[in-house]
Amino acid sequence: MNNQTLIQIEAVSKQYGPARGGVLALREVSLDIRAGEFLSIIGPSGCGKTTLLKMLGDLLKPSAGYIRVKGKTPADSRRARDCGIVFQTPTLMEWRSIARNIELPLEIVGAPRGERARRALELLDLIRLREFAARYPHELSVGMQQRVAIARALAYQPSILLMDEPFGSLDEMTRERLGQDLLDVWQRARVTIVFVTHSVGEAVRLSDRVAVMSPRPGRIERVIEVDLPRPRPAELRELPRYWELLREVRAALRLNG
Ligand SMILES: Nc1ncnc2c1ncn2[C@@H]1O[C@H](COP(=O)(O)OP(=O)(O)O)[C@@H](O)[C@H]1O
Ligand SMILES: [Mg+2]
Repeated sequence: MNNQTLIQIEAVSKQYGPARGGVLALREVSLDIRAGEFLSIIGPSGCGKTTLLKMLGDLLKPSAGYIRVKGKTPADSRRARDCGIVFQTPTLMEWRSIARNIELPLEIVGAPRGERARRALELLDLIRLREFAARYPHELSVGMQQRVAIARALAYQPSILLMDEPFGSLDEMTRERLGQDLLDVWQRARVTIVFVTHSVGEAVRLSDRVAVMSPRPGRIERVIEVDLPRPRPAELRELPRYWELLREVRAALRLNG
């Protein structure tokens, strides 16, 4: 750990159920996540990615090892609202307008009406959906709904965004476009992003570093630095380095051959 470390994951294991007959989902996972970085976690289905992300957000407790978020336990970090969370499906409330969906977390903590409305407009600008403020979720595409879910997760102004396969249910083209939008949000909101995916291309396109996990019980197999230019050029596929990095991640996942 050094002074760049924002999240420290130290020998974290997670066992579901009893030691015999239960499931060892993660075994001694250690990883330091740096302030401001875009870090992806990639690994096969069932390797414990969601489990790890939930422990960072204090939705689950480790069975062994420990986690520090900005030097705090996950429970203290949750109270300080350090993390916003985005899941695979947007889970918006159908009967609330887009603006009021984004305001919801602020309503729960009792923020005054004027402040809520102001913040919702800021966030609508950030995700470039201001003209949809008064619309309802069913009037938006799933991709747009996921942008709203991202805005809602940012309502508290968290310094960390935890994202669990947020574009996993979308077609490839929408997914790429949303990835670009997310990089834009990341740069403008200055958050640290922990992004779970099982797409190798998505991980390389978006990230500063890619943490590759082994099959269950999950471990961090390798952490690959993505030394591609920022902002990422539109013609990323013309860079030989992009393809080398894809190969490196695939090799670490043992997808080659
Ligand atoms: N609540 C639970 N009880 C028992 N086993 C679980 C529970 N949640 C997840 N698991 C198991 O733990 C392993 C890791 O799950 P998960 O973190 O969801 O993996 P991933 O997100 O990488 O697909 C899987 O084998 C899964 O079946
Ligand atoms: Mg998962």
